Amino acid sequence: MKGDAAAPLVKGEGTAPAALKDEGVTPPPFTRHPAQSLIQVSDLARHYQIGEVSVPALQGVSLSIEQGEFVAVMGPSGSGKSTFMNLLGCLDVPSSGRYRLAGEDVTGLDPDQLAHIRNRRMGFVFQNFNLLSRASAQENVELPLLYANVPAAERHRRAREKLAKVGLAERAQHRPMQLSGGQQQRVAIARALVNEPPLILADEPTGALDTHTSLELMALLQALNDSGITLVLVTHEADIAAFAKRVLLFRDGRVVEDRLNETPQRAAEML
Ligand SMILES: Nc1ncnc2c1ncn2[C@@H]1O[C@H](COP(=O)(O)OP(=O)(O)O)[C@@H](O)[C@H]1O
Ligand SMILES: [Mg+2]
Repeated sequence: MKGDAAAPLVKGEGTAPAALKDEGVTPPPFTRHPAQSLIQVSDLARHYQIGEVSVPALQGVSLSIEQGEFVAVMGPSGSGKSTFMNLLGCLDVPSSGRYRLAGEDVTGLDPDQLAHIRNRRMGFVFQNFNLLSRASAQENVELPLLYANVPAAERHRRAREKLAKVGLAERAQHRPMQLSGGQQQRVAIARALVNEPPLILADEPTGALDTHTSLELMALLQALNDSGITLVLVTHEADIAAFAKRVLLFRDGRVVEDRLNETPQRAAEML
């Protein structure tokens, strides 16, 4: 199976993805100097200007994330988690501080350059799936390739491959409304994967899912992490953070705790 890019990570509906580690997810085509962190932020800050008042949403955040890490971002509502994720995802720019992604300083780039980096370097998964309701699962997954000007035949092929990978080969022509919440989120993951990014950013991806479906989703995300994809995932829930290898705790826009989880739970074993 190794090297078979179409090997499913989820074998059919409601089945525990077994032996995922060797199931042939090709590591992202991404070379860099070993000493170089995937993500490196120093003294990162983001202030929102509301009238005369400057609200500090994030301040003094300095940390590195290495390729292959699985980081859970936790903290109370309003503590800066989404602000941090938006900066990591190049969806927003910091008020001050530096951000290096794979060694490249992205702090001063213009919106077009940031869009290019987003498309090449990362996939996004959101709480509410953010799928186009009038488009099929396949068309949703193809979307990032459309932006990257990939020819149609190649788009179809790669989208089908990723849908198969998340166990939805048979649902390619379904629209989001015809899919369960867990299936919709897997479409979103297939879409996040379609450009083979080294990094996936997920903001409360299990927030709209029931417990069992959340476990299935976490098993899928852990399998992706096993294959070498770096994961940064916001969650409110300690149960979900327990799957991560590292936990960052935010409070009042600052990182107040950064700890390694030596014994992450395995979601696939809990299904
Ligand atoms: N667009 C915005 N304009 C003004 N203030 C904002 C905006 N987005 C977030 N904030 C403020 O920044 C702080 C951090 O918000 P956020 O990063 O969304 O927190 P979290 O995701 O942890 O709930 C909060 O005080 C929030 O009210
Ligand atoms: Mg948030």
